[in-house]
Amino acid sequence: MKKTNYIQEQIIVNLAKSLLYEKALVKLDGQFVGARAAIARISQNVHSETDLNYGEIFIRDNVPVMIYLLIDGQYEIVQNFLNICLQLQSTEFQTKGIFPISFIDVNNQLIADYGQRAIGRICSVDATLWWPILAYFYVQRTGDQAWAIKTEVQIGLQRFLELILHPQFRDAPTLYVPDGAFMIDRPMDVWGNPLEIQVLLYASLISSVSLIKMDLEDKNSTQSNAFRDFQYHQFNYATVWLKRLKRYLLTHYWVNNKTIQVLRRRPTEQYGESITNEYNIQTETIPHWLQDWLGNQGGYLIGNVRTGRPDFRFFTLGNCLGAIFDIISPVQQRSLFTLFLRNRHSLFAQMPLRICHPPLESQDWRLITGFDRKNLPWCYHNAGHWPCLLWFFVLAILRYQNRYGDLSIDGSDSFELLLEESYQVLLERLPQQKWAEYFDGPTGIWIGQQARNYQTWTIAGFLLVHHFLKVNPADSSIMNLPNLNQILQSKPQI
Ligand code: GLC
Repeated sequence: MKKTNYIQEQIIVNLAKSLLYEKALVKLDGQFVGARAAIARISQNVHSETDLNYGEIFIRDNVPVMIYLLIDGQYEIVQNFLNICLQLQSTEFQTKGIFPISFIDVNNQLIADYGQRAIGRICSVDATLWWPILAYFYVQRTGDQAWAIKTEVQIGLQRFLELILHPQFRDAPTLYVPDGAFMIDRPMDVWGNPLEIQVLLYASLISSVSLIKMDLEDKNSTQSNAFRDFQYHQFNYATVWLKRLKRYLLTHYWVNNKTIQVLRRRPTEQYGESITNEYNIQTETIPHWLQDWLGNQGGYLIGNVRTGRPDFRFFTLGNCLGAIFDIISPVQQRSLFTLFLRNRHSLFAQMPLRICHPPLESQDWRLITGFDRKNLPWCYHNAGHWPCLLWFFVLAILRYQNRYGDLSIDGSDSFELLLEESYQVLLERLPQQKWAEYFDGPTGIWIGQQARNYQTWTIAGFLLVHHFLKVNPADSSIMNLPNLNQILQSKPQI
């Protein structure tokens, strides 16, 4: 492994910090409120037509930024960001409760995009789910419960929960969404119940109930009785939902060598309540590449569960979050990490990490993506490589080690090596290749055909990898969620 020397490393880290703090962060009324998605061509410092909406502040792209700012003690900026998003939470009849995909200040006026301006008019559900999660991380890290129990914050949570917990046609506890409702925001056959949305749903519900509990326990709360009754009602409903959701994800999404063999031999066309093949899935939908992908020890959460149409593709972010949010057990987390290691040549290759695997090709690409040239096989969302994903994996591994102990297999330090080598790749390539947004090709060696340069989450993601590996691994607890059983044991009483 080629290693960058210490002085060189410090220069790169300082460069990344100055890009983040001096170029990416945006001020509103004299205060920093979040970071733009990509820094405009440095010399001009203005966004041109071809920059599209990359000058805007995306909630999704600000996740690594906010986590880094929390770690760096910049609490005020995180609070400003949360407050602005809250101010922009929709109150329109049809979209009440959603948070915007992105927003921008144009001549002192905030303009938000809820999907009505986005390419393809996609709606981004993940942004809405991230808000309560980030709010919880902020309160947990700063201890700022006074913010959590503010009426505006509690009303925001109520609106959010009303959006999720309402009568619907389906009985399943998953959230049903259209295509492209998260980081993969173009048609990629990720409609229905994509994994990333479901793990974020879990985290957003548990974060919301924790924040509501703080308010219910606050003796000085000035809320009316009707308001409190509604809080109890939502609290109770959300905790029941959470239990069902976790059980559902473990039953329907988790696969390993053993479960696949059971799935392959299930009968079809079953009717009634006590059956084994609820979604009437045919054996032929189970792809053969799984045999080698899983090996004997590997396991992961599949991409989507739908009637007759499960999606066995591997989605990196949904799986990392499944581990970070403890949706999968420590034993399952170990199998997931083993699967990452086993498929290192695919997932890490020359630029960690690949966003999903395998790509949609030929006729599938034509029909499913609608001839989307940005999503050609091995490009962009369609199995391209995104350096902004590595920190999630690093955090998942380190928090596992902190909580459950050593991960080494037969005494070998394969995981340490994997992390160190991946970090060295970022160090060597990112500054040289202008902190590009994504990389194309089966090994991720080419800069993405339409990638922006100086993409903020590439920069913030690098800073997080550096922080967790070289500065303070214990900070990998920053995304720990409260434990549902503990919340229920000390359930607030009316
Ligand atoms: C692209 C990505 C999306 C990201 C946005 C801004 O649309 O697909 O995930 O949030 O760019 O960087």
